[in-house]
Amino acid sequence: MAIIEFPKDMKWGAATASYQVEGGAFEDGRGASIWDTFSRTPGKVLNGDNGDVACDTYHRYEEDIKLMKELGIDSYRFSVAWPRIFPNGRGEVNQPGVDFYHRFVDTLLENGIEPMCTLYHWDLPQALQDEGGWANRSTIDAFVEYSEFMFKEFQGKIKNWITLNEPWCVSFLSNFIGEHAPGNKDLQLATDISHHLMVAHGRSVKAFRTLKIDGQIGYAPNVTWKEPFSNKQEDIDACKREVGWFVEWFMDPVFKGSYPQFMVDWFESKGVKMNIQDGDLQDISQPIDFLGINYYTGNVARYKENSGLFDSEDLDMNYERTDIGWPIYPEGFYKVLTYITELYGQVPIYITENGACYNDEAENGRVKDQRRITYLQLHLAALKRSMDSGVNIKGYLTWSLMDNFEWAFGYSMRFGIVHVDFRTLVRTKKDSYYWYKQTLENGWFDL
Ligand code: NOJ
Repeated sequence: MAIIEFPKDMKWGAATASYQVEGGAFEDGRGASIWDTFSRTPGKVLNGDNGDVACDTYHRYEEDIKLMKELGIDSYRFSVAWPRIFPNGRGEVNQPGVDFYHRFVDTLLENGIEPMCTLYHWDLPQALQDEGGWANRSTIDAFVEYSEFMFKEFQGKIKNWITLNEPWCVSFLSNFIGEHAPGNKDLQLATDISHHLMVAHGRSVKAFRTLKIDGQIGYAPNVTWKEPFSNKQEDIDACKREVGWFVEWFMDPVFKGSYPQFMVDWFESKGVKMNIQDGDLQDISQPIDFLGINYYTGNVARYKENSGLFDSEDLDMNYERTDIGWPIYPEGFYKVLTYITELYGQVPIYITENGACYNDEAENGRVKDQRRITYLQLHLAALKRSMDSGVNIKGYLTWSLMDNFEWAFGYSMRFGIVHVDFRTLVRTKKDSYYWYKQTLENGWFDL
């Protein structure tokens, strides 16, 4: 038995994203996004699912905010659908879309819940994709226009801003691996996009400062951890590249103003050319107020010639896996957080996502998801270890408040602490919801 206790001033929350929960996909003037297009492309999303209705939060947000209030969270992380604000990506503002987020944010505030707003959680306006999307540097300008508008419009209401969610997914998963919209498989393109995203992030932060907006701003990269199978240098190096793809690639430019040379060399050995313009790295390295971290999984890996992009392979160490197939590796959470702190100092960190996919169903109004509770306990214990080791954790937001549209997996993978019946849209609190509520109330739990 071990009591895991957290500081009183730690912020607790839950997270979702617009396309995954909102629905109301074509209402009140919302423009199309790349996920509308992608989910309608045969074979891209399991069962041909799409976000047209999702959890219908667009209409049921009051019910959802009630769930949050009862849960006792301090903070709710949601994202804004860019095409609700600018249906064409830039130019004319769609007032009904803006009004929706005012209603939503006002209701959060009335219930004493702090909004944490992600500006880009993957639903790029299709109109911008038609001009090349993130591969075209004009999308950077459009993003800055959109973020400036949001900062001014919600000034005084929203104090916590995240520019980008998981730039690795937006670039490499979506444009090299091809699993997410727009579904390209081109390493050069993906690398260019990763850079453009970070320039967009930096310029948005710059605008936030110039406009003197009250609040804090950061971004939310996803990270993983790969533990070398042995202490052979080749295993260590392979893991360093795997982790570097998520950590150094997306953080060195922000905190150090340069790309990690070992990764640049590796990409160049694969024929990639870095397309960086004068001033880009100055823009990217704007000081931020906090770093958001999304962590789900890690593994043991070793060197293997010609295996994958980095000459490395994951080992099947027989770790338990969640229902989406990801190894449960809480040790990696501790490791990657302490690694980030070693590299960049004691940056204030919010865990902007951590959670588990378990597809337990509701039976007689109850969902017995003990496995999710265990996952959360193990990861919170690892988080606490990292805090005791000097990692500057300010808050923890679980993914997700409720089951939702899990991208290429459609509705088949459930990450919520609230169950959603996607036929009736009925919400049912899972056992993990009650466990989380109790933990937040106490500020500790018993492992
Ligand atoms: C990462 C993403 O930010 C979120 O949209 C997704 O649903 C979860 N992780 C789970 O895969």
